[in-house]
Amino acid sequence: MSGINYSEKIPNNVNLSGDRTLQRALEHWQPNYLQWWRDMGPEASQNFDVYLRTAVSVQPDGWANFDHVKMPDYRWGIFLAPQDGLRKAHFGENIGRDVWQEAPGEHRANLRRIIVTQGDTEPASVEQQRHLGLTAPSQYDLRNLFQVNVEEGRHLWAMVYLLHRYFGRDGREEADALLQRNSGSEDSPRILGAFNEKTPDWLAFYMFTYFTDRDGKFQLSALAESQFDPLARTTKFMLTEEAHHMFVGESGVSRVLQRTAQVMNELKTEDPGSLRAAGVIDLQTIQRYINFHYSVTIDLFGADQSSNAAIFYSSGLKGRYEEGKRTDDHQLKNDTYRVLEVVNGELREIEVPMLNALNEVLRDDFIRDTVAGVGRWNKVLEKQGIAFRLTVPHKAFNRKIGTLAGIRVAPDGTVLSEEQWKANENAWLPTPEDREFVGSLMGRVVEPGKFANWIAPPAIGINRQPVNFEYVRFN
Ligand SMILES: [Fe+2]
Ligand SMILES: [Fe+2]
Repeated sequence: MSGINYSEKIPNNVNLSGDRTLQRALEHWQPNYLQWWRDMGPEASQNFDVYLRTAVSVQPDGWANFDHVKMPDYRWGIFLAPQDGLRKAHFGENIGRDVWQEAPGEHRANLRRIIVTQGDTEPASVEQQRHLGLTAPSQYDLRNLFQVNVEEGRHLWAMVYLLHRYFGRDGREEADALLQRNSGSEDSPRILGAFNEKTPDWLAFYMFTYFTDRDGKFQLSALAESQFDPLARTTKFMLTEEAHHMFVGESGVSRVLQRTAQVMNELKTEDPGSLRAAGVIDLQTIQRYINFHYSVTIDLFGADQSSNAAIFYSSGLKGRYEEGKRTDDHQLKNDTYRVLEVVNGELREIEVPMLNALNEVLRDDFIRDTVAGVGRWNKVLEKQGIAFRLTVPHKAFNRKIGTLAGIRVAPDGTVLSEEQWKANENAWLPTPEDREFVGSLMGRVVEPGKFANWIAPPAIGINRQPVNFEYVRFN
């Protein structure tokens, strides 16, 4: 498939000009999108030229072009990975049959719901992060924030294309509604809980891109297996962009740890108060942020037992992570999976039909991936001779969705009474004082190559540019 035609109003590789009705409908949606970007997108960024990557092809090598772009002039486009005429359904009841190029009538409502739920998260995160540009710790970080934001905007475009192209009037109405719901809104909030939480400071931003964008990776990976081929091809290309978002989170937290460890060694102290006085974030606070973002994010995978999950899988709408690499029968009718349950105040494992537990399967895949990265964070501490180790809390900690909602569990997995929880909550989740302290460190650093005191510079710049490159021209 060739490069993307940027002379069109909406850059695309889906031959949009060959379908005038669709093109007109999307060109009608476009000004509403731009209005949303101005109202709800990155605050006070309208005049900035930012060193951004723009997708110019869907080929794995050289798909992106880097250049300074005026933010509202970013070219949001519609790109699907190439169609492979040989693709067959490789899981569920239709295994071995041709994949669908149109949405089958009997699965329309479920497919639409899946696409709307995914689509809703994309603009939500832009809204959650819209104030962060005002307190960026460096130009390098500011650029990364904007890169994530424009690509989440593009992911919205990706889902809106599917709604317009395959779901008729209902799809167009859903596309409009994606611009009408807003993160944290009383009247019309975003669909999923984590996307209505605030991202008030840069530590929260790194945690969000580490944990919550990784939820995106796993959801998109499961959808990339779909028998609805346009959805599979769309999400496959979105995953290319998602990798950078998780890099921003993982490297961001690493740099915070690097700086804190450095000051711990300089001052020869582990005392959170002394470290805070020195203007860095103590490791206990970082752990509490991890506990919060981890628990809120694993809720996004949904109820541990779900008949919808079984239907989505059996009918070929949504696969498992790396479905193609698994060696079972890809039907799962005779398989079981272990999920947690509370019996007489104790957590215990029970076996349930695997088809009903596919949310839990995906959550566990996510957890494995997450834990590996936390191990890399601990390496940063280890290298600096710091004994403290970060962990992720128990799966049942602070849950709001599924069987584990409504019970109180410590980070180590001990089931607690309400009183025990209340007595320790402040040690486990960020307190208003934590948030206030982290907030107090957030000041804007704009000089190229300079970094806020609480975070170390990155090892290398973006696209082999130096760290002190002018990533943002403020004009
Ligand atoms: Fe996204
Ligand atoms: Fe993302």
